[in-house]
Amino acid sequence: MKIVMATNNQNKLREAKEIFAPLGIEIISQKEAGVSVDPEENGLTFAENALIKAHAVYECVKLPVIADDSGLCVDALDGAPGVYSARYAPENERCEKLLHNLEGVPAEKRTAKFVTVIAFLDQNGNEFTFEGICPGTIGFEKRGTNGFGYDPVFVYGEKTFAQLSADEKNAISHRGAALRKLYAYLQSEYQEGE
Ligand code: IMP
Repeated sequence: MKIVMATNNQNKLREAKEIFAPLGIEIISQKEAGVSVDPEENGLTFAENALIKAHAVYECVKLPVIADDSGLCVDALDGAPGVYSARYAPENERCEKLLHNLEGVPAEKRTAKFVTVIAFLDQNGNEFTFEGICPGTIGFEKRGTNGFGYDPVFVYGEKTFAQLSADEKNAISHRGAALRKLYAYLQSEYQEGE
């Protein structure tokens, strides 16, 4: 079975290829499938945006498709930046802007969560969504150099996400949780030989 992933992000592709290979599922990028769509992500929820991306690719390939959308929701900012996480500020200024907007907010009110929704469209275009959530808090300064985006200010336990190795982060992250739900679904529906 082949699934087209609605992304050209090499890290996401490598991760998905590795995870789903044992199920006999081949993940190919939208580029490898000959698709170059880049739809406007104007949904109000992560699920809406993931489905917008998945449908745009599905219309071109008529093969099973997965697409994901993620972001950071901060309680003291009424859930912002949320679906606007990528547009909140340029990549290297996101943490600073978030820390600035939380100035004066005490530790106990700095709760937040990372969210990922993965949309899966099957061969016939039927929709399935899988949500992963990682709760944490926003620290008072950047710590750590791994990862990307808001990792240096997102605190889980004693460490920020930027202080974790990729494997440590995958084991607890929103994206890891959503991928494990998708894996369980695909395993039950499509495992080779079943
Ligand atoms: P995407 O939908 O996975 O591309 O994520 C959208 C934006 O949310 C990214 O550009 C990051 O700013 C932020 N984001 C999502 N996941 C993470 C994460 O695991 N760490 C840090 N930032 C993240």
